[in-house]
Amino acid sequence: MKHYAKIVALYLLSACTQQNDKLISLQNQVDSLQLKLNDSYKPGLGEFMGNVQVHHSKLWFAGKNQNWKLAGFEINEIKESFDDIKKYCTDRPEIKDIGMIEQPLQNITKAIEHKNLNEFINSYTVLTTTCNSCHKATNHGFNVITTPKTPPFSNQNYSLHN
Ligand code: HEC
Repeated sequence: MKHYAKIVALYLLSACTQQNDKLISLQNQVDSLQLKLNDSYKPGLGEFMGNVQVHHSKLWFAGKNQNWKLAGFEINEIKESFDDIKKYCTDRPEIKDIGMIEQPLQNITKAIEHKNLNEFINSYTVLTTTCNSCHKATNHGFNVITTPKTPPFSNQNYSLHN
């Protein structure tokens, strides 16, 4: 009987050691994944803004030409970029001011839904003013956004209706 108890104890001990080895190996995997995550590429606020700038410009030419489908697409791209900024740029204190862009984005979305050129032009002006208000509020007042004069790319047809 004593002999039997010894065998059971030894068996339990080895099971325990195996469990422990598994835990250590899992912890090592977690650590190396964490290192990879820290090193993975994340676009910075300036890069997101550069993307917003392109779609802000395309939005103008789409709306002005009453190409409402394209305008709807462009405003969504802008919204997505701001959502990404909120998600990925949490290390930037400037994003506390980002809320001010919500209402102008909503208003321009409504103008596009209404297919109303005047409403579009007015809400576009407010949107652009708000870009600049946030730049001022975040000490980037030197970065002035305007209504574009020429399309950002020549290889896209902004007036195509379909
Ligand atoms: C949170 C407030 C905020 C809002 C809203 C905002 N910006 Fe910015 N923007 C910034 C900050 C901060 C920077 C500087 C980023 C950096 O440090 O790289 C910036 C930088 C930029 C840049 C410079 C990028 C470059 O490479 O020259 C452009 C262009 C830009 N924003 C466009 C816009 C446009 C267009 C809008 C409106 C549709 C807008 N921004 C709305 C805060 C904002």
